[in-house]
Amino acid sequence: MLVPGLRRSDFPALDRFTYLNTASVGLVPASVTGPAHQFEAELAQAGTTGMDEDTEVGILEDARNAAASLLHAVPDTIAIATSFTEALCQVAWWLRPGKGQNVVSTEVDFPSVTYPWHRIAEDTGCEVRLVPVLDDPDGFDVNKIARFVDSSTAAICISHIQYLTGHRLGLAELATMAHDHGAVLIADATQSAGQVPIDVTASGVDVLITGSYKWLCSTFGAAICYLSPPVLEQFRPPLAGWRSTEHPYALDARWKPLARTARRMEYSTMSYASAIALGRALHYINSLDLDQVAAHNAALAAQLVDGLTGRGAKLITPADPRNRAGTVTARFPGRNGETIAAELTRRGIIVSPRVGSTRFSMHFYNSSDDIGHALAMLDEVLQ
Ligand SMILES: Cc1ncc(COP(=O)(O)O)c(C=O)c1O
Repeated sequence: MLVPGLRRSDFPALDRFTYLNTASVGLVPASVTGPAHQFEAELAQAGTTGMDEDTEVGILEDARNAAASLLHAVPDTIAIATSFTEALCQVAWWLRPGKGQNVVSTEVDFPSVTYPWHRIAEDTGCEVRLVPVLDDPDGFDVNKIARFVDSSTAAICISHIQYLTGHRLGLAELATMAHDHGAVLIADATQSAGQVPIDVTASGVDVLITGSYKWLCSTFGAAICYLSPPVLEQFRPPLAGWRSTEHPYALDARWKPLARTARRMEYSTMSYASAIALGRALHYINSLDLDQVAAHNAALAAQLVDGLTGRGAKLITPADPRNRAGTVTARFPGRNGETIAAELTRRGIIVSPRVGSTRFSMHFYNSSDDIGHALAMLDEVLQ
């Protein structure tokens, strides 16, 4: 059974292999790449005669509006960035926590979640607190994070769903905890947007950033950054350029007011083709029911978890299905998980090696048969 509205034929790569690697890079439908390629081709053929100034200024609006629908935000609170890392760096350097302040994240977060803060710590002496996870994966939750948060915490910067372990946290609980301590919650939704519903307004998250090329099934080169209305009111971007202003084509070298909206974070040209692709990908995702997508991915994850544990694997993904989504990472006692990942990939089961483990990630285009086939191939590898 596939998610209603989804056509497996939109993802022809699935005819060639069993793709369980969306946590690395998602498969991109032709309805997403087509318009992006067409834009590049027209630019090559017609230059500025095919794209006037108004078109250029408005070229991010489709992605912005569709991102706002996805996240239950108003479009003014959405910036289109070039990558997760770039957007977080802008927010981090604006906050620039000082000596005596701290930022809370985890030891398993993607390095781009923690590196901006480590770099700022070099300059200011702020403290970066990383909550341990791997010592007790099932004991990791909001309560454990709470032990690291205090009145000197400037930000909790953490993934909604972890790239390595697949842990899923509650955004509303995290936001409440941050606000109770006078801190902001900055959520990395790169591993969640597109596979679970997100309501930034209801959850109270302050900043939420997601890349485009995983569960949103778009190309590299674009990202979404939501700034809550109170954050937006105060946000002064550390990077500024011609596109940051209220009227980019005023092209005035004197200082002009920055855009009122989150657009003030967009300072330059970017890969407009990537922004076009992102808009199309978001339309694709928005045409699906994300509750159904989440249920589908959870069912595939449960099937895989049963199969893996039955084969003696130890999971670093939580056993409780409420605390995970479509990513499952396993260690195989006495075996190197990275070698197993390579062996599976050689047999057409595309998975990722991750720090001694094998990571499987299932999205809406996968089926129960894919999991059955992956487990059969795993039996061959384990023999
Ligand atoms: C959780 C998470 N955040 C951020 C990134 C990287 O984002 P970007 O390449 O858009 O900077 C990744 C890439 O794997 C990721 O898994």
